[in-house]
Amino acid sequence: MEKPKISVIGVGYVGLCTAVGFANKGFSVMASDVDPEKAEKINQGIPPFHEPGLKEKLKDSIQKGNLACLVNQTEKVVNESDFTFVAVGTPSKPDGSIDLKYIQTASQDIGKALNKKETCHITIIKSTVVPGTTQNTVKSILEQESKKQCGKDFGLCMNPEFLRQGSAFQDTINADRVVIGAYDKQSGDKLEELYKTFYSTHTPPIIRTTLSTAELIKYASNAMLATKISFINTIANMCEKIQGADVKTVAAAMGLDKRIGPLFLDAGLGYGGSCFPKDVKALIACSKAFGYQPELLESVENVNKTQPLKAVQFCKQQLGNLKDKKIALLGLSFKPDTDDMREARVIPIINQLLQDGAKITAYDPVAIPIAKTIFNNQIEYAPSAIECIKNTDCCIIVTEWDEFRKLAPEEFASYMKQPNLIDGRRIYKLEGFSNKINYIPLGLGR
Ligand code: UGA
Repeated sequence: MEKPKISVIGVGYVGLCTAVGFANKGFSVMASDVDPEKAEKINQGIPPFHEPGLKEKLKDSIQKGNLACLVNQTEKVVNESDFTFVAVGTPSKPDGSIDLKYIQTASQDIGKALNKKETCHITIIKSTVVPGTTQNTVKSILEQESKKQCGKDFGLCMNPEFLRQGSAFQDTINADRVVIGAYDKQSGDKLEELYKTFYSTHTPPIIRTTLSTAELIKYASNAMLATKISFINTIANMCEKIQGADVKTVAAAMGLDKRIGPLFLDAGLGYGGSCFPKDVKALIACSKAFGYQPELLESVENVNKTQPLKAVQFCKQQLGNLKDKKIALLGLSFKPDTDDMREARVIPIINQLLQDGAKITAYDPVAIPIAKTIFNNQIEYAPSAIECIKNTDCCIIVTEWDEFRKLAPEEFASYMKQPNLIDGRRIYKLEGFSNKINYIPLGLGR
């Protein structure tokens, strides 16, 4: 039997990994995006962002003719496919609430295509949208533009994505679960069938539910992970006040309790990226709009706001006034294995250090070109970690890239002017470091 044809609207992380995932499994995929540069790169087999493992799979999909990316051709790709995944961005408005402008435009274009389509088409919202959006915004626009009826003439599902940057493609083909919120049973059945073909013998648990529950599952998952991080950072901050207490050991022991689990208990300078900060804010705003004040989530956000600035406080404790002091920053991206600097914790750190008059040199294995677009020549950029720390008064580990783990205490001791090392991600062992340099790990009582 011929495989159904897939279209994808928006080729950011989620859209591109979805497109490449289906294309790699032999489905014919057409994508559409508003950005011509992005589309051109994709058609040449080059991912528009740094993501391990994606390049080979993308190249293969393009070479086999299974994937093509068009510019602003939503109507065409919907017309020529059976399922459309919508993966456009859902940025924050200044008040933290979700901005649905790209979802609205995509829905209008899909609706126009549905108006002319003879066969029953299924639209799947993959973008992260607050509860109620698929039903109230997407369905209404689709029906208005198509002049057809949802659930009868066309299908609608909400299918959130849980991939992580840095392992995005692997996460796409090895999901922990598939969540299918469906407007009508038939659309849900068809999407479930599609995923069973996609995953074959490795199909993960499939959760069938309503549109709004699917939407909330996504936010609840991200908010829970953000809560774990702010929780362990709170414990880290406490540990620093308690002589002999170490957050690393606390987290490791807590993690052995099966009810808690070991993951996402790494204390550090807080969470960044394009998802957690935006999604926690949007969930708070949405909850308030529904009439419930989500105090727990407000605290999660507040802890995350102040957490990166602890690195600057530590610097001041060691050096006093920071005017003209030389500070080395190792790591710029919001996490390792990505060049993404959206909401990266280094941004508030740099802003504060600049305000305090410090001289900053930074190094990151891949994010320097992006950092230059944010900070221009306000800071210096080094070609390697060693060059970065040379002659500096204090070094801060901001992102836990693997290559930083290999640095020896002797290197900090010999290259730095003053070997003050603030370990904002707890990547070094206390033994070996604390007797050779002034090693200041986050979350350790002194
Ligand atoms: C996150 C979720 O993990 C994905 O499941 C979700 O699909 C995605 O958001 C999304 O909504 O699109 P991602 O933003 O790629 O994925 O990054 P994570 O690996 O979750 O890390 C987020 C931030 O938390 C990073 O800044 C990281 O340094 C920080 N973090 C993570 C900690 O500070 N401590 C930890 O223990 C774990």
